[in-house]
Amino acid sequence: MVASRKKNPKTCMLEPVCEPFGLIIFGASGDLTRKKLIPAVFSLYSRGMLPERFFILGAARTPFKDEEFRKHLSEGISEKEGKAEFLKHIYYSSVDYQRPESYKNLKSTLQRLEKKIKTQKRRLFYLAVPPVLTENIVQSLGENSLIKNLPDVRVVIEKPFGWDLESARALNRTLLKYLTEEQVFRIDHYLGKETVQDILLFRFANSIFEPIWNRNHIEHIQITASETIGVGERAGYYDKAGIIRDMFQNHIIQLLSLVAMEPPACFEPKRIRDEKVKVFRSLRQMSKKEVPEYTVFGQYIRNRIDGEVIPGYRDEPGVKKDSKTPTFAAMKVFIDNWRWQGVPFYLRSGKRLQKRITEVSVHFKTVPHSIFKDIVSGDIKPNVLIFRIQPDEAIELTFQTKIPGTKLCFRDVVMNFSYRDYGTELPDAYERVLMDCLRGDHLLFVGQEGVEIAWEFFTPVLEFLEKSKRLVLFHIHDYKAGTWGPWEAEEFIKKDGYQWWVK
Ligand code: NDP
Ligand code: BG6
Repeated sequence: MVASRKKNPKTCMLEPVCEPFGLIIFGASGDLTRKKLIPAVFSLYSRGMLPERFFILGAARTPFKDEEFRKHLSEGISEKEGKAEFLKHIYYSSVDYQRPESYKNLKSTLQRLEKKIKTQKRRLFYLAVPPVLTENIVQSLGENSLIKNLPDVRVVIEKPFGWDLESARALNRTLLKYLTEEQVFRIDHYLGKETVQDILLFRFANSIFEPIWNRNHIEHIQITASETIGVGERAGYYDKAGIIRDMFQNHIIQLLSLVAMEPPACFEPKRIRDEKVKVFRSLRQMSKKEVPEYTVFGQYIRNRIDGEVIPGYRDEPGVKKDSKTPTFAAMKVFIDNWRWQGVPFYLRSGKRLQKRITEVSVHFKTVPHSIFKDIVSGDIKPNVLIFRIQPDEAIELTFQTKIPGTKLCFRDVVMNFSYRDYGTELPDAYERVLMDCLRGDHLLFVGQEGVEIAWEFFTPVLEFLEKSKRLVLFHIHDYKAGTWGPWEAEEFIKKDGYQWWVK
């Protein structure tokens, strides 16, 4: 597979993948495969972005015949022309990840398909499995000559990369035993979202914002990723992972790095990674003892909304009845460098909150002196720049205007750019990242160094949550499903003189 980031200059669209390939998905019976991966591949297929010759081989323990597996996936994709044809590209092989014979069977199925469909050995292994399984699978693929010394093989790893710092390092050692760094793709699908990519374009393709993008003009920054869904059927994974591993160590901290990084010299994967790493290195490390001061944790409890009973986290199937796993966290972090010294970044994410919304808001300082103070009551509100990542994707800037009339009264209004104005549907993040894996483009993927520093930063938080059981009892607050999280999170930001922007 050839690395190429060539765009069609006329349409700004990525060009289709031409070379035949086999996509082998581990954990293919799971949530991610059905809800995100297969719909994304189908969408690429429908848009003519895939070559004629390709196959998808699902692998997991659940026994499926090819037809059963196709039916299982079919329910997750929309009825569109070409669906029946698309499903014919899909096959299944049962594997028990721990058993060597499984890999021998997989290998013979793979070789049979490669011969039949003539994809040569262009293999993209996608490990859509809980992180505890990843290293073991890579090892088995290596030992069974499925990846080693095959230059056209790529391996995609889902977040979280490892379980903690040690396991992330071990995973990386194993990956590099069988593959080169160029063959490894660490996916954080947030980086594939159009609006997330646009943070860099907004900052570095417009000259008016960069001069004020610093501690002299910015008071504080907020990042909220709030979800209305609960853990659903993923309790087996989530109850061990919790919100820090699931959202903070990856998606949230990636958003933070894009907002805070210095301009890279050019738009190249390595340069961008380097700048992100510098941000991660500048994060002010909290000690385990300091964790309660800089964080608030919560877990959702049962609530009735519009007559419907929403179960509490501990009532979800597969969750331990005495679980202390946080499903909500709010956190204040600082970046100790010249640009950001003293500017607090408030991060917040949770499941079963009031609204599904992901937003970054940059809060500028208020005017240094109000010439209106004797005429107009109340404060002049500061400008806020908003990146609405999803839904209703937009970039907005608030500013003050005079309400028409003889009296002098202010009102804050919003200047808005909505992605809807483009008149096209935004591609799903998984479509973009899958295309990039097939092309060998690392721009939107995460580097190992960044992964490790992010783990280092969150280690005291995880240790606090997992190793101080008694203490934690006082620090994981209940919140009713469908609200904005625990009341303590409101107090947390209020004591600094601010409010959550998203509410
Ligand atoms: P699932 O929990 O659905 O697991 C995927 C499959 O792995 C399961 O169907 C199961 O297949 C197998 N499996 C699960 N637990 C075990 C176990 N303990 N031992 C052996 N096999 C097991 O995961 P998801 O599909 O939700 O996610 C996969 C990865 O993708 C995770 O790393 C997650 O963080 C990441 N991710 C998920 C997203 C999502 O929306 N779901 C979004 C972004 C990332 P079988 O029993 O058939 O072997
Ligand atoms: C995944 C998490 O990485 O991101 C899920 O594992 C979460 O728990 C999901 O629901 C959110 O992604 P999105 O694209 O819906 O914001």
